[in-house]
Amino acid sequence: MEHKGSFYITTPIYYPSDKLHIGHTYCTVATDAFARYKRLCGYDVMFLTGTDEHGQKIETKAREAGITPKEFVDRIVEGERGVKDLWKLMNISNDRFIRTTDDYHVSAVQRIFKKMYDNGDIYKGKYVGKYCTPCESFWTETQLVDGKCPDCGREVVDAEEEAYFFRLSKYADRVQDLLENTDFLEPRSRVNEMVNNFIKPGLEDLCVSRTSFSWGIPVDFDPGHVVYVWVDALTNYITALGYENDRYDEYGEYWPGVNIVGKEIVRFHSIIWPAMLMSLGEPLPKKVFGHGWLLLDGGKMSKSKGNVVDPYILAEMFGVDALRFFLLRTFPFGSDGNFSNELLIQTINTDLANDLGNLVSRTTAMVEKYFSGALPEGCKSCAVPTEADGELLSMASALRGKYEAEMDAYAPHKALEEVFKVIQRANKYIDENAPWALAKDMDANGPRLAHVLYNLLEATRICGILLTPFMPESMDKLFTQIGACEACRTWDSAAVWDSRSETSPVTKGDSLFPRIDLDKALEELDAAQEAARKAGLPDIELEPQLTEKVDFDTFCKSDFRVVKVKACEAVKKSEKLLKFTLDDGTGTDRQILSGIHKWYEPEDLIGKTLVAIVNLPPRKMMGQESNGMIISAVHTEKGEEVLHLLMVDDSIPAGAKLC
Ligand code: MSP
Repeated sequence: MEHKGSFYITTPIYYPSDKLHIGHTYCTVATDAFARYKRLCGYDVMFLTGTDEHGQKIETKAREAGITPKEFVDRIVEGERGVKDLWKLMNISNDRFIRTTDDYHVSAVQRIFKKMYDNGDIYKGKYVGKYCTPCESFWTETQLVDGKCPDCGREVVDAEEEAYFFRLSKYADRVQDLLENTDFLEPRSRVNEMVNNFIKPGLEDLCVSRTSFSWGIPVDFDPGHVVYVWVDALTNYITALGYENDRYDEYGEYWPGVNIVGKEIVRFHSIIWPAMLMSLGEPLPKKVFGHGWLLLDGGKMSKSKGNVVDPYILAEMFGVDALRFFLLRTFPFGSDGNFSNELLIQTINTDLANDLGNLVSRTTAMVEKYFSGALPEGCKSCAVPTEADGELLSMASALRGKYEAEMDAYAPHKALEEVFKVIQRANKYIDENAPWALAKDMDANGPRLAHVLYNLLEATRICGILLTPFMPESMDKLFTQIGACEACRTWDSAAVWDSRSETSPVTKGDSLFPRIDLDKALEELDAAQEAARKAGLPDIELEPQLTEKVDFDTFCKSDFRVVKVKACEAVKKSEKLLKFTLDDGTGTDRQILSGIHKWYEPEDLIGKTLVAIVNLPPRKMMGQESNGMIISAVHTEKGEEVLHLLMVDDSIPAGAKLC
């Protein structure tokens, strides 16, 4: 095959602050389809994805979970059902995976920062403004919308500190020219948004270092400052190829590449990123494509809303290829789309089970039935071709060109639409030719029947090749069923009608895409989602408390007893503490202090039967001794801690041991 040169394509590097959902999967599957398409065409492809692991949000989440930031991100990236597992499940063909905590990236970012400092594009100043912690974004007063973050609408906080700045303003004209006068950023609608909302109001210099937290790449010539997470993140596209590091040596071979990103981070990729590259004197990306969002009930999916869709559940229920296909067939890539389980199932049933599945199963079944699984020699030609023959042939032969144009325009939904026009035409061709009628008189109609079936196999083969980037595993099965050899599964052969050998064996295998019962599947999905919620799968924050193990002997050393409250009063000068006088069954009163006044009044507790651990060493609080701890259950409601004392049946005598 002709070697077409190299092609580099990337996804955004995702934040491993939570498990990834169907929205992240959408972007990665799309980028994977583009990468596979380019490989199919004969390009030497480098496909990069990865994780963006620094920043205040991750530092905070790790602290809440009681582990180090590195331990936290390791779990989400490398752990069970983590980022890497998800891409494996979804059959993602990335050639490389970058983590911004990788050593080579860290030192390369330090060098890049220093390079921009040395060339005068980074300088030290004072940052005064607003900061949105979830977005890791700085804003000026004028950029805020109703006093809130213009990206996510959340509260911002005041920020003032010594910081380094990048001279973004210096590059405003060049960036504007790039956006307005080239195809650098697509879809085109995003260009106006960037120019009108960000460049025309005046590009200010960008704060590119922080001192208020430490989970980031240190500025090596000024310890105490860490590199702004977006500068760290954007450079991944070049450090992963070996820029400013010697881990890899492929920068010259692959850069510049194509950056596929979601619409909410187009600003970073189409303004800050090219300006940084201009400052470094490096080539700009060939293209930044800002795809749309998958919405749920018209709104954003988010962990806090509790409406994220778990790709694991969908892939397990419907198959990886069906899910991949659905995502790219249904939603126009550059626009937002409304995700729903019904839509997913309907698409699988209509396109895959009915149209494609039926075409394959009817055709292969007829070759088996009427020709014992192999068409006769001579079936390529036909004495008197019909109009329908000509139509099918011309549509299938022209398909590759149309598909290529759409894929090159980053419109996979349109490329798939073209493929399905041919599949639908082929199904109509079956009905027009009524092979079952022809088969009634094989002596007279045998050659015509063989020709009809050959044409169907050819149309299916061409569609199969072009569907491979979307459904690689299923198309492998399809090729086996229709008897397409290696040489007639290639890009070149997708433009050549008649590539398939006349006599190669055909087998009606298992159905490629079984039909799904909508109501039953929806019910099963609800149950699976509910079970996952109960199992607390997406809540990585809870895991540390569950994984810390104590051995049984240690556990047995804890002496829990039933106690009765004889007296209870507030401790003077303390807002929180209550002093309990307890009957613990020993005959001697036990005194325990407990910080629960926020939830209970002392007089309400007299006479209650509670549980306490009684073998803790004595402790002094507000000058009074406490011998043990009363046990309670604690949970959080609307961000507030709620406490319930553990009360047991009054019939249990004081001193009863819990075991
Ligand atoms: N870490 C940054 C990106 C740095 S790239 C140098 C980041 N990470 S993220 O985890 O928030 O991932 C954002 C990307 O995930 C989006 O740009 C988009 O590609 C994808 N999506 C996340 N939610 C999505 C939807 N609901 N719908 C479609 N894509 C979505 O931003």
